[in-house]
Amino acid sequence: MHCIKKITNDLIWVGANDRRLAFFEGVYSVPAGVSYNSYLLTDEKTVLFDTVDKAVRQRFLENVEVALKGRKLDYLVVQHVEPDHSSVIPDLIRQHPEIKIVCSAKVLEFIKQFYEFDIDSRVHLVEENDTLNTGKHTLQFIMAPMVHWPEVMFTYDSTAKILFSADAFGHFGALNGALFADEVDFAKDYMDETRRYYSNIVGKYGTQVQSALDKASALNIEMICPLHGFVWRSNLNEIISKYMLWSRYEPEERGVMIAYASVYGNTENAAEILACRLRDKGIKTVIFDVSVTPASEIVSAAFKWSHLVFASTTYNAGIFVTMEALLNDLAAHNIQNRRAAVIENGSWAPTSGELIREILGKCEKISIIENNVSIQSGIKAAQLSDIEKMADAIAADFPAPSGVVQNNQTVPNTVDPNTMFKLSYGLFVLTARDGNKDNGCIINTVMQITVTPIKITIAVNKANYTHDMILKTGKFNVSVLSEKAPFQVFQQFGFKSGKDTDKFAGSGEALRTSNGVRYLSEWTNGVISGEVKETIDCGTHTLFIAEVNQAFSLSRDASVTYQYYFDNIKPKPQPPKGNKKGFVCKICGYVHEGDTLPDDFVCPLCKHGAADFERL
Ligand code: FEO
Repeated sequence: MHCIKKITNDLIWVGANDRRLAFFEGVYSVPAGVSYNSYLLTDEKTVLFDTVDKAVRQRFLENVEVALKGRKLDYLVVQHVEPDHSSVIPDLIRQHPEIKIVCSAKVLEFIKQFYEFDIDSRVHLVEENDTLNTGKHTLQFIMAPMVHWPEVMFTYDSTAKILFSADAFGHFGALNGALFADEVDFAKDYMDETRRYYSNIVGKYGTQVQSALDKASALNIEMICPLHGFVWRSNLNEIISKYMLWSRYEPEERGVMIAYASVYGNTENAAEILACRLRDKGIKTVIFDVSVTPASEIVSAAFKWSHLVFASTTYNAGIFVTMEALLNDLAAHNIQNRRAAVIENGSWAPTSGELIREILGKCEKISIIENNVSIQSGIKAAQLSDIEKMADAIAADFPAPSGVVQNNQTVPNTVDPNTMFKLSYGLFVLTARDGNKDNGCIINTVMQITVTPIKITIAVNKANYTHDMILKTGKFNVSVLSEKAPFQVFQQFGFKSGKDTDKFAGSGEALRTSNGVRYLSEWTNGVISGEVKETIDCGTHTLFIAEVNQAFSLSRDASVTYQYYFDNIKPKPQPPKGNKKGFVCKICGYVHEGDTLPDDFVCPLCKHGAADFERL
C-alpha cells in the first residue's frame, strides 16, 4: 500500500524508508535505518525530484502513481546519480515513457555509465542558474559538485522558496512517521546521526560544501528538502550553522576525544587515567575503543571535538590494525584544524607513536602536543607522571573563559554585562506608528509589573526612531518573537534605522491592532498593545510604563530567549579573510577593523556598545 505525505498544497513526499539495510554504502552501519526521499511537485506540469534505492522500489513506484492521481509525469529532475537515488529510473521510464529527464551534462554522463536505456531522446540539459517554468513554479538549477559526487545539483523552487538539496542536510535514520525536523527533538535525537552522515559521506569535501553554502546563502530559502532524513521548514539555521562549522573543520565543542587500541588493557588503562585527569580539570572527555566502536562513529566524534588523543599499542612493528585503519580513515576524510596528542605502547620496540604522528603530519593544521607518553607493557610511576604532564599540556589549551568565576576564585566586584544574558530575556519586535509612518525595532526588555490593570514596562534605547515615535504617540505593540524567527527578522528590525528604511518592506499585508499600530504575525507567538502611562528617563534608555489594552496569542511556539538566539539563530562570526585585525560585535557580527576599539564605540548596525565586542 502507498505511503505518502503532503508537504505543501502541491508538493508530496513519495519516498520510502529502509530499516533492513545493515551498511549504507556497504560501510556505514545504519541501526536506525535510512530514508530515501523523493518529492513530487504537482504544478501545471508534474515534476519528480530524484528516485530511490532499489530496496524500496515497489513502494516508491506505487507512491508516485497515487500522488499523480492519473496524471502523466512530465519531468524527472535528477540531482544525484548515486544508485540510492537513481536505481529506479529505468523502472520509472518503463512506467512513464513520456517523461523528460532534467539534468546536467555530468548527470547525463553518469546515467549512461550506470544504466542502459534511451536517455538522449528525453533529456533536457540544464546548466548553472538555468530555470524551468512548470506553471506556477520556477525551478532554478544550481551545481553543487562534490556534495557528494561531482555531478550533484541542487534545485531551487523560487516560487515556493524551497531548496531541494540532494545529499546535503541529510542524516542516517529512517523517518518514523514524522517528515519535518520540527516534529521531533532533532538536536537530541538526530544531530549525532546528521554529523555522522556529514563527516563520513561529504566530510572530505569541506571546500566544495562551503561554495555550495555560499550559493545557497544568496537564495531566500524557507524550506529544505534533502534526499535523506527530515524536511526543514523552520529554524533552518540549526542545520545550516552546523554545516558551516563542519565544512570549515571547526570543532563544535571544546573537549578531548580519546581513541585507544589496546590488546591486554594497558593502553586502555593509560587512556582512562588521562581522561580522569582531564575531567579533574573540568575538561569534557569521550573515550572510544577503536576495536569495538565503528570507525564512522569515531570519525564523527573527531569532527565534533577540539582535541584528539590517539593511544595505541605497537603491533607487527607498526600501529595496531584497528587504530591504523581509523587514522587512515580520518586522513581520508580530511580531518584538520585540531590539537592532537599521542600515547604509544610497545613491550620491546614501541614505534606506534612515531607512526601515528607520521599519519597525522599529513593532515592539514593538526598540531601535536609534544608531551609524549611511551609505555613499555604496563604503566609504572614514570608513565603515570608523563600522563599527568600530558593532561597539564592539554589543559593549557583550555584557559578559563574570561569573566567566568572558577570554583575557588573570589567573585569580582564588577559588573559583567554578559551575566545579564543568563536572565531569560525574550526578544521582541516593538512597533509604533506616527502619522503614516510605521516603524519597529528589536528590544529585549518587556516585563509585566501589575495584574489589575495589566501593566508592562519596556525599556527603549533613545537612539531608536521607534523610541521617539512612542514618546510622541504613547502607543506601541510588542510582537513576541518565537524560536522559529530567522536571523533575517533580527537584521530587518534590529540592524537598520527606520529613519532611512521601511522596516516592513516585504512583510506582506499590513496587520494592525485596534490602536492602528502594525504587528508581526509571522515568527511571533503573541502580540501585546500598550498605552503609555508614565516614562522614566534612564540615561541611554527611556522606561515606558504602559497599560495593556489588547493582547493575543498567535502560536504555541516557544518564545525565543537571548541564549537561544545566540546558540541557534545568530550565525557564528566568520573568520576574517587575510590578516585583518579588529573587533567583532557579539550581537550582530559587525566587524570594526583596527588595533583598538574606543570605549564609547557604538555598533553602527545594532547600536550595542564596546562591551559587546570581542577581538577577532
Ligand atoms: Fe544518498 Fe550520495 O547518495
